[in-house]
Amino acid sequence: MRGILLAGGTGRRLRPITTSVSKHLLPVYDKPMIFYPLSTLVSLGIREILLVTTPVDRPLFQRLLGDGSQWGLRLEYVAQPRPEGIAQALVLGEDFLGGMSSALVLGDNLFHGMDFAAWARSGVELTGGHIFAYPVDQPSDYGVVEFSSDGRVRSLQEKPARPRSRYAVPGLYFYDTEVAKIARGMRPSARGELEITAVNEYYLRERTLRVTVMDRGSVWLDTGTVADMARATEYVRVVDERHGIKIGCIEETAWRAGFIDDTQLRLLAQPLLGSGYGEYLLRLLD
Ligand code: G1P
Repeated sequence: MRGILLAGGTGRRLRPITTSVSKHLLPVYDKPMIFYPLSTLVSLGIREILLVTTPVDRPLFQRLLGDGSQWGLRLEYVAQPRPEGIAQALVLGEDFLGGMSSALVLGDNLFHGMDFAAWARSGVELTGGHIFAYPVDQPSDYGVVEFSSDGRVRSLQEKPARPRSRYAVPGLYFYDTEVAKIARGMRPSARGELEITAVNEYYLRERTLRVTVMDRGSVWLDTGTVADMARATEYVRVVDERHGIKIGCIEETAWRAGFIDDTQLRLLAQPLLGSGYGEYLLRLLD
């Protein structure tokens, strides 16, 4: 399986902070936002990842992440010239996917406490599409999934004025080898975007969409607004200070996934000493 990380967009809801810099490079507590979804892909054992960015932001992402080899990854980059929808990332990634199945993650989504690796090992079939559901207070801000009483998916809605359930669809999606073709065949919505919800609806109609309700106690946060960012920062800070655990620490995640060894982790820590981050990496080796 290959990964696609979508970090395009204009960050309109975060201006003026995002006037000169992509929101995915902004800090969520002690690290750039993009480290969190990148770590989610790596924790799933995914090494080959395509970064979708705006053309102007691309050099900054390359400076931060390089080709990923320092973390045992292979990162590639592709430009999304205009924010024309999440599903467009699948079209842009068609060559990169090379006929393999895919995991798509949004660059402003933060997951914690859900053992996706165990979920992936538990024998889920990667045919069709697989999405998650997470109960929230304001489902109208998200894609929404409605279940029937026997637990089947009844409908999907994108940012509905009247949500049919409390279950939002987080920005982590798994698809079979057909998804790029399906996304390519779609027409833009009224707001001019290739909607990811329309791709999921396609799989729903084909009866090959599966939905997993995220574990109780697992956390999903997105960081689309200033208030969301402050909340995510506070969450990461509390877990760090109270438990001594860093969420979204790409070096640690790559090391735990076995993508890099102790010597490589020690090397990565050196330039990061002084902020507490490098010291944290060295403590992992004790
Ligand atoms: C997008 C999707 C929505 C999904 C959300 C998750 O919304 O369109 O279905 O629930 O991401 O973060 P956006 O963040 O583009 O507003």
